[in-house]
Amino acid sequence: MATPHITADVGEIAPLVLMPGDPRRAERIAKDILDDPKLVSEVRGIGAWTGTYNGTPMSVMASGMGIPSVCIYATELYRFYGVKRIIRVGTCGAMSPNVRVRDVIVATAAHTNSSLPHLFVPDASLSLAPSFSLLHGAGHAAKAVKDVPVHFGPIYSSDHFYLVKPATTEGLIKLGTLGVEMEATGLYATAMAEGGEALAILTASDHLFDPSQDMTAAERETSYQAMVEIAANTLLF
Ligand code: HPA
Repeated sequence: MATPHITADVGEIAPLVLMPGDPRRAERIAKDILDDPKLVSEVRGIGAWTGTYNGTPMSVMASGMGIPSVCIYATELYRFYGVKRIIRVGTCGAMSPNVRVRDVIVATAAHTNSSLPHLFVPDASLSLAPSFSLLHGAGHAAKAVKDVPVHFGPIYSSDHFYLVKPATTEGLIKLGTLGVEMEATGLYATAMAEGGEALAILTASDHLFDPSQDMTAAERETSYQAMVEIAANTLLF
């Protein structure tokens, strides 16, 4: 069986999934942390890799960019492939003055300007939150990481990379929002809708108010180790 966007057979994708945005990063993570990784789908260049992590089956599959894209893959994984847990491992722009580039953020909630929550429940404003057991697991897994600060708090999923207005950012920062990205809201809403578990763990790849802190493309590629380690160990928790 295949879905419109995944050609793997059922059983070829593990119940535990790490989900970066970028397909090249998915391949890299799979080859870095999985034993015996096998490519099981690559529709539209979105590779899905399955192997084992510390002896437990685990898959790494990219989400692409933005809420609609992550919603497609997460829905098909939970609904048709028996996936139980998805952890997004991605980048975000740091907003909070307390977060520096390269710090890790565990998203305890996901605010958004997307209309997605209203597609699920038109007359309510949903609280998009991760699975408690994954969040709890991340709290433990983060303790093993000594060299990178790990922040726990709300983030903002924007529907437009280039349209984050200063008044919005200011309001979000006053409410303790740590960073901005484009997918966590979609993943959290999909997990709630499909009865799965989800969490987003992010690396700050740039700072909205301090461009001097920005990472180069090469640094972006290699600075995920702490985030990926926390995420993979959290999936096992
Ligand atoms: N905005 C949205 N998404 C992002 C950013 C940003 O500044 N940085 C990394 N992902």
